[in-house]
This record gives sequence, structure tokens and C-alpha cells, in this order.
Amino acid sequence: MMTVEREVAQHYSHGSLEAAILTGLNAMGRNRSNVTPEDLAGIDEFHIGGHEATADVADHLNLDAGGVLLDIGSGIGGAARFFARRYGCRVVGIDLTPEYVEVATSLTQLVGLSDQVEFQVVNALDLPFGDESFDRATLLHVGMNIPDKQRLCAGVHRVLKPEGLFAIYDVMQTGDGEITFPVPWAATKATSFLERPETYRQALLDAGFEIVSERARREFAIEFFQRMRARMAESGPPPLGLHILMGQDAPTKIANMLAGLEQGLIAPVEMICRRL
Ligand SMILES: C[S@@+](CC[C@H](N)C(=O)[O-])C[C@H]1O[C@@H](n2cnc3c(N)ncnc32)[C@H](O)[C@@H]1O
Repeated sequence: MMTVEREVAQHYSHGSLEAAILTGLNAMGRNRSNVTPEDLAGIDEFHIGGHEATADVADHLNLDAGGVLLDIGSGIGGAARFFARRYGCRVVGIDLTPEYVEVATSLTQLVGLSDQVEFQVVNALDLPFGDESFDRATLLHVGMNIPDKQRLCAGVHRVLKPEGLFAIYDVMQTGDGEITFPVPWAATKATSFLERPETYRQALLDAGFEIVSERARREFAIEFFQRMRARMAESGPPPLGLHILMGQDAPTKIANMLAGLEQGLIAPVEMICRRL
């Protein structure tokens, strides 16, 4: 039987993602020598609300040029590059999926941010960093693939400096009833570990965090998908869009997630926590 980690990494693996991104860039009149971070915006933030949601999270983090941020489950690195570029901090992104780490590294090189941002293949449940190594940590749409929230939070607590901030922006279970699969983060229930905000809160408190703020972003999420669908209906998928990451059944995955949001079963929830 496959471990959860192997199955999750397989779910996200594309096979020829860098080539697919370069094809999209070429269709936009770009190539390796002239690509900008803005050109990647349609594809490099794989969470509900895209860049807007990341900027909202960053607003709570008091980032500055002297700090080091750990982005857990960094995907192809859009959020990590944004934090580095906007705030001047250093960022270490870790992710389970080797292809994402390769593509994240390559895109970061293309846009000239390699001095500030690096990526490593690491399981969030086994952080290979010393105690108190980071000033900030982020987890953007990753906890849905991680069964053991207690161990996750304990690990983040260990690597954060005292007073360090940890921002979570995950899809959580907010109502009673089962969602339909596939969804963007999992093909089946076997690799989906949606939990209620209470479960996250308890894991955070047990690990030694205090919760500074929390908000469910259901309406924001529904509007985001309505806008995305309207754009797709009008002009088809953009050359560089999340459909490339989600594969052939992207429309089904989005429809199932949207149904869950509309029925109030799930919602993206943002939690900002401080390490005590
Ligand atoms: C939906 S994507 C979000 C990527 C990124 N945070 C973003 O917002 O663009 C989820 C990511 O979490 C990663 N992931 C899932 N479980 C993980 C784990 N145990 N450790 C590290 N990364 C993990 C996946 O490989 C995938 O890249």
C-alpha cells in the first residue's frame, strides 16, 4: 500500500510541468529570458483566492527584510516569491512533491530571486531544521493533505522563534456532510484530511501557540470561483492557469469544491497564530 505522502506527491505530480508552463509563457509572448513574476500569476498560487488571499495573509505577518520565513507546502512557489519580493525577507519553501520543488526552483531562477528564495523536498511532518530557525511560517492550502495536525503544529512551533507568527490558510470542514471527490487537493477521500477549525485550534494551543485572529472566507471563495468561471466561459482557459496544475478533470474538481462551499460544508479559513 502507498503511504499518504507518496499518494499526495503523485496526485500533484504532472510529469512535464515546466515544459507546460514554458508553452503557456510562449503563447503569452514570453520566454525564459523575459519572464516576470506577474506573468506567472495565473498559475503559481494554488489556493482559493490566488494572489489576493496571499496578500491578505501577508498583511497580518509584519514581514521585514531581516526575517526568514518558512513556507510549508510551497507548491511551485508563487507565494514564497511574493513574500520575498514585496518584503525583502528570505524564504525557505518546502514541499513533498519533487516536481513542484524543481519547477519552483527553476521559476525563481528565471525571475531572479534565487538569492532570497530556496526550495527543498521535505515532509511538513519531519522538518529538518534546527529549533527556533524561522521568524515566520505559512501554510497555504496544505493541511487538507496532512492527517496529523498535532504533529504538524508541534513541528512548526519547534522551528519558529519565540513570538514568531504562523499563518494558516486551509480549506476546513465547516458543516455536516461529505463533499464529493475529486477536489483540487485529492482524487479520493484517502488523501483528504479536512478538519474543523476547532481541531486546528486545539492542535495549535496544545503545541504552544496563541491564536491572534481567525476568519472563514466562504463568500470571498465563492466570488473568486464565480469570477473564474465567468472568465473561462467568456474566453476559455488562459494560457497559464490552474487548469494546468489540476489536469484533465480540473472542471470536475472545481465544481465539486464549489458545491461544497455553496452547501456550507467547507470553507477556506485563515488563522494567524503566535508562538509562545
Ligand atoms: C494545493 S497545493 C498549495 C501549494 C502552495 N501552498 C500554494 O498555495 O500555491 C498543496 C501543496 O502541499 C504539498 N503538501 C501536501 N502534503 C505535504 C506535506 N506533508 N509536506 C509538505 N508538503 C505537502 C503538496 O505537494 C502541494 O504542493
